[in-house]
Order: sequence, then C-alpha cells, then structure tokens
Amino acid sequence: MLKNHSDLIYAHSLAVGVYASLIARQLGWRSQSTLFKISMAGLFHDIGKKEIPKTILEKARMDMTQEEVKIYESHTVRGKEILSQVPGIPEEVVFAAAQHHESMAGCGFPFQIPRFRIQPISRLICIANEFCNLVLKSPNKEDVSTAHEALLKIYTYKKEDVELSFLKALMEIFNYPVPADLLKLSKSKDVA
Ligand SMILES: [Fe+2]
Repeated sequence: MLKNHSDLIYAHSLAVGVYASLIARQLGWRSQSTLFKISMAGLFHDIGKKEIPKTILEKARMDMTQEEVKIYESHTVRGKEILSQVPGIPEEVVFAAAQHHESMAGCGFPFQIPRFRIQPISRLICIANEFCNLVLKSPNKEDVSTAHEALLKIYTYKKEDVELSFLKALMEIFNYPVPADLLKLSKSKDVA
C-alpha cells in the first residue's frame, strides 16, 4: 500500500516508523514507550520538508545547486524547531528530526556530528530512512529496489554511515544472508 500511495512523503514517513519499529523489535527492544517514540520519530522525521519548495524536493541531490543543497539540508534543523515547539513531543523524536541524516562515520548533515553524539533512536531512523528511500518511490525518484537489493546497496555503499548491528537486524528480518563481518555483532540493549 505504501508503495502506491500518492502522497510520497507521507508514505515514506509512515514506512520509516514501521521499519524502525521492526528493527527495534528484532533487536529485542520491548519497552512500549520506546516503540511509541520510534514510531513517532519515523512519522515526524521529515516534517521540516513541509517548508522546502517542491521544485527542490523533486530534484536528485546531484542536480541541485549549492544553494538548493543548503535549503534541502535545512529540513533537519527546521524539523527540530517545529517539533520542539509542540508540547508533549519526546526529546528523542526532536533529536531524530535533527539527526536522521548524520552518519556513524561523522560525515553526514547538517552538523557532521560523531557517532557517540547520535542518539539510538536517531540511528534507527537513519537506517530505516536509507532503506525506505530505496524500496519506496520518492518525489525525486521513480525506480524502486527490492528489499534484498536495498540491503545489498546499503551494505556496499553506506556501511560506514549506518549502525551495523541495526543493518544486521534488518537483514535478519528479510532473511538476507548476513555477511561474515556482521555476524559477530551483538544486539545493543534497549534504550529505555
Ligand atoms: Fe530527511
């Protein structure tokens, strides 16, 4: 259903919440409050995009001018500002909006923060976001990958950027053969 939904950003956001929750459960995270925050973080992580011109959202990153890249990347900071003004939004959800494009290698955006400063729920949203960008249509891309193709692409090109124990959990969910270097990883503890 999400693959064919006409509102692509909505479908993407909902899917990120669903896949992030599935990864969390695969990791053994059972706290209802944590799972609630994860779903909410998925739903709201891209809320800052509501203020980004459609013409920019429809462009592939490599076709954007420097100025357009700056505007696009600002959806993270704007999302944080919007969510932090809403009473009752958990701080992890606010962080996820701000941090979901950061990288475990410290080379993401907007602030290139190092791994230890990226919160666990933000790391979950980060990998679920990468996965959903590949398996679902987006405003700037029509073609979609299967789950296994997407996992291979993340493992091949984005391994440095994502939390590897989360990538392993996502592979397990889809019965994808886990590569030897990920097999030794243990599950991280529940964050709650
Ligand atoms: Fe985003």
